[in-house]
Amino acid sequence: MKFIRTHDHIYLTENRYKKPKEMFKFIEKKAFKKKEGYKKKLICDFGCAAGEFLYYLEKKRPSNEYYGTDIRLDLLKKAKKFLPTVKFLKKSVLKKESFPQKIFHKSFLCGVHPIFDEFEKCFSNLIYWTKNAGEIFIFDMFNQYPIDVLIKYRNSKDYNKKKNYESGWNNFSRKSVSIFLKKQRRVKNFSFHKFEMPFDLKRQKDPVRSWTIKSKNKRLMINGLNIIQPQTLLIIRLRK
Ligand SMILES: C[S@@+](CC[C@H](N)C(=O)[O-])C[C@H]1O[C@@H](n2cnc3c(N)ncnc32)[C@H](O)[C@@H]1O
Repeated sequence: MKFIRTHDHIYLTENRYKKPKEMFKFIEKKAFKKKEGYKKKLICDFGCAAGEFLYYLEKKRPSNEYYGTDIRLDLLKKAKKFLPTVKFLKKSVLKKESFPQKIFHKSFLCGVHPIFDEFEKCFSNLIYWTKNAGEIFIFDMFNQYPIDVLIKYRNSKDYNKKKNYESGWNNFSRKSVSIFLKKQRRVKNFSFHKFEMPFDLKRQKDPVRSWTIKSKNKRLMINGLNIIQPQTLLIIRLRK
């Protein structure tokens, strides 16, 4: 089945620079110690869109050297306007040759891997590009049940146009990811950290945007695909 990915145009009009997403705050807290030391670190956000997460990181941790990659030039051009000192590069996280081996201290991949029908390629590449004793942070859905779920969707307004289905909401299981990571020679350890929105989000006009519902006093994320999103941060630590 052929599929497309058009939904990322939202990052051209949305501006989450001054009001960062809650998940950005959660990831930053887990990824950095309060006092990290003054040594400059090379940090890359893969699939950075318009650079909103990098903007947050640069303000919080200005002493590091930041890189951002994406496959959409329009998003990278917008990002560069907000972050003139960051190096933005049009490179795919699926292509090993995008970067040399072991160059980043910390590598981030947020909201990207559920686009792909296999997680292995991009996770292997992140391990390849990250330095010894470096860390990788992957944020999105990870199924807590041992089932890998591949999802394709289409808005009914496109039904008569016979548009291709879209991707972006695959839900790989923690179990499969763990089996894969345990086989990676350079991986020292890894851990999964559940994210919960600290406040309610209202439903928006675009049915693909997520909102919160309450269940047993827990705030769950959902959208028009009608699946509960187990939003999780995966931290991978590499050997020295
Ligand atoms: C859902 S957005 C997430 C954006 C941002 N990381 C965030 O968390 O707000 C997914 C991004 O991944 C980018 N992307 C899709 N395929 C990619 C690939 N093969 N390599 C790098 N980026 C990719 C898209 O262009 C888009 O900007």
